[in-house]
Amino acid sequence: LSKIPLFSDLSNSELKEIEKITMFKEEEADRILFFEDDAGDAIYLILDGMVKVSKISTSGREKTLAILEKGDFFGEMSLLDGGLRSATAQVLEDVELLSIHRQDFLQVLHSYPQIGSKVIAVLSRRLRETNRQLGNAHFKSVTERIKELLIKLAKEKGEKVKDGVLIKQYLTHHELANLAGTSRESMTRTLNKLQEAGWLKIKDKDLIIVEATINNL
Ligand code: CMP
Repeated sequence: LSKIPLFSDLSNSELKEIEKITMFKEEEADRILFFEDDAGDAIYLILDGMVKVSKISTSGREKTLAILEKGDFFGEMSLLDGGLRSATAQVLEDVELLSIHRQDFLQVLHSYPQIGSKVIAVLSRRLRETNRQLGNAHFKSVTERIKELLIKLAKEKGEKVKDGVLIKQYLTHHELANLAGTSRESMTRTLNKLQEAGWLKIKDKDLIIVEATINNL
């Protein structure tokens, strides 16, 4: 529990109190944890694995809002504003989760104001990221959006290799396209175009942003 950033400032005895109100569960990839517009009865903390938060249109099209991982939490919005789930949460990579029931979580916020401050900081960061994406969708071309996404992934998860920065292909073209706000076809086409322009290399399923590109940033 102490590894979850939300609780990292708590003492051992405080952590023990929190532990009493958490429920552990494991879920496999692809499982839907909840749907948009469900009633929100709990917040979830990710101990391991990845969860995708997305909006799904009536015609089945999907827009990924965020991919959350170890240490992140989700499901707080409907607890805080009393509304329904604002998006659908689906397991992307097998997860270990802790859940805390609505009333218990609201009590935690009351007892430990520093946790409330952390929740607010995360909400601000997410709104900032959403604003960035909204700006990009309005002002930037598909290629610019894809380049920006790849640079972000390279910075956050990239591994330095001989000829550049390696992005392990843990996301499919469909997922990458979703994050960049475009179609899978256009993602594949643009990746090939960027490779031809010498901006990146496609190696099996991994991507390498080439050294010269990084140096020109
Ligand atoms: P809730 O509305 O209860 O259920 C869906 C959850 O997805 C929401 O709480 C947040 O935890 C999370 N979520 C919604 N929108 C975003 C976003 N733009 N970025 C990151 N997480 C989000």
